[in-house]
Amino acid sequence: MRAMRGADLDAAVGLQLELARWNQQFGGRVPRPSTEANSRRILGARLAWPTSSWTWVAEVAGAVTGLVVVTPTERADRVAASVAAGPVAYVGCLVVGAGHRGDGVGAALVATAHDALDAAGVGVTLLHYYAMNPLSAPFRHRCGYRPLWTEWSRRPAGMR
Ligand SMILES: CC(C)(COP(=O)(O)OP(=O)(O)OC[C@H]1O[C@@H](n2cnc3c(N)ncnc32)[C@H](O)[C@@H]1OP(=O)(O)O)[C@@H](O)C(=O)NCCC(=O)NCCS
Repeated sequence: MRAMRGADLDAAVGLQLELARWNQQFGGRVPRPSTEANSRRILGARLAWPTSSWTWVAEVAGAVTGLVVVTPTERADRVAASVAAGPVAYVGCLVVGAGHRGDGVGAALVATAHDALDAAGVGVTLLHYYAMNPLSAPFRHRCGYRPLWTEWSRRPAGMR
């Protein structure tokens, strides 16, 4: 597990697209033609953050196989209003490539991110996951997270 580098950008964008396609099964929006470029721009901008990009990758046999992206406290004000405690950070993305799941990579990424969050004095770590995603609930609970809010929504048929 290590901080994302510039050379990881293609792989990291690929993993974010893989996550977006995966999430479509559970109500996630269909990736747009602009999704890839936006992912590259947003992840690329993080590489210029002064102290840390708050973005870590897992490397297995020289290939990037997992990604976790965290929003630090100073940028997490929108979601921080969901809880009374703090300081709050937000896990915006966690994905392990399909061929590498179930091998402990996701748990190791979460542990790496939480080491940094602990060092930064973060008191509450929030995230969203799709309740219908069969991988999310077991994984998140196993990592020690617990649900705070359950939201249901529906879109008109055909609205992508
Ligand atoms: C969710 C995800 C990140 C987990 O990463 P992973 O590397 O596969 O998970 P790990 O091997 O580290 O598993 C950690 C724990 O999660 C649970 N878990 C993982 N996969 C599971 C599965 N298929 N069924 C049930 N529990 C599972 C287990 O409790 C496991 O711990 P244990 O083996 O000690 O019991 C990965 O499956 C993934 O990228 N899924 C697709 C994208 C996605 O759903 N992202 C949303 C994350 S909320």
